[in-house]
Amino acid sequence: MAIRIGSEANLHLDPRELAATLQPLERATMLPPAAFADPAVLDWEMENVFAGWVCCGHASSVSEPGSYLMRELGRSRVFVIGGEAGEPRAFLNACRHHDEVRSAVVGGLILVDPSGEAPDPVEHVGELADLLELYRLSSLLRAEAKTYEVDANWKAIAENYNECLHCPGVHPELNALSDYRSGQTLDGPGAWCGGSMRLNEGAEMMGRGHGKASSRPPIQGLPPEELDAVYYFALFPNALVSLHPDYVMLHTLWPRATDRTAVVCEWYFEPATIARTDFDPRDAVEFWDQVNREDWRVCELTQKGVRTRGYVAGRYSAQENDVHAFDSMVARSYLNAVNERGQRGEEAVG
Ligand SMILES: [Fe+2]
Repeated sequence: MAIRIGSEANLHLDPRELAATLQPLERATMLPPAAFADPAVLDWEMENVFAGWVCCGHASSVSEPGSYLMRELGRSRVFVIGGEAGEPRAFLNACRHHDEVRSAVVGGLILVDPSGEAPDPVEHVGELADLLELYRLSSLLRAEAKTYEVDANWKAIAENYNECLHCPGVHPELNALSDYRSGQTLDGPGAWCGGSMRLNEGAEMMGRGHGKASSRPPIQGLPPEELDAVYYFALFPNALVSLHPDYVMLHTLWPRATDRTAVVCEWYFEPATIARTDFDPRDAVEFWDQVNREDWRVCELTQKGVRTRGYVAGRYSAQENDVHAFDSMVARSYLNAVNERGQRGEEAVG
């Protein structure tokens, strides 16, 4: 069965609860439990949120004419195919149809818009594009990819990525390389949230071997003040982009059920670095593979907690700006739909 784009899947969420999430951080309440557990909410998200710009991966995967990548998008499949002229083309495979869908490449990220109605893709990525360019993401090449199946809602995974209070307890290796309090939240135009963390003194990069195992040079042209920075961004709805001094990591989230998400994690490096005879990405890949698995465990426990009878959405802590920023993008999209339906209902009655 096909994705029904922009259709009327029922979103039975209380607008007052959504407005509570949109309050300033110190007064805001987290997303209602139904957002993580109600299949009708996921149906609505697939037909609306995942019908606007969705990140499918990196342009280098389809740089050759005829090369392609496939992602499952709800009950449909998206094929992105390398074109003769360089720009990839995307197709949505729904039932027996192959409909060409709107696509774009921004900062090396392949975006598809099954609705055909999302705003300009450059507007969607906004100011984040400047940082993607600084880290030369469009020129980097993939050295490794891993796919995970996580028993948690896609938003629980995005929230966890945006939340660093769990780092000391859950990721001792990561926390030894960069203090979770060293971060700074960034803000600017575009559908993203996130910020920076600083590497601890003595750590040169994020990887096995106490941050020293690598002989990789930094990404070309990176200013000296960025050599001890790591940036973590969520590009709404499904891309998590981590910018490191010597590589970029990209997670894309693919909802399967309210409590199940496929996560594709990819590691990108400088082509010149990959070409070196001593190139070995394992320190970074194995390090993050472990951190990923530690995170999935936390997300799965969170998901179980949300499903517990009597679970009530809690408040945010003062350090959870990025989680709140992500949830606000979700709440705003829900609230727009709920309000629109309310208005249509009033018109019908009037
Ligand atoms: Fe984590």
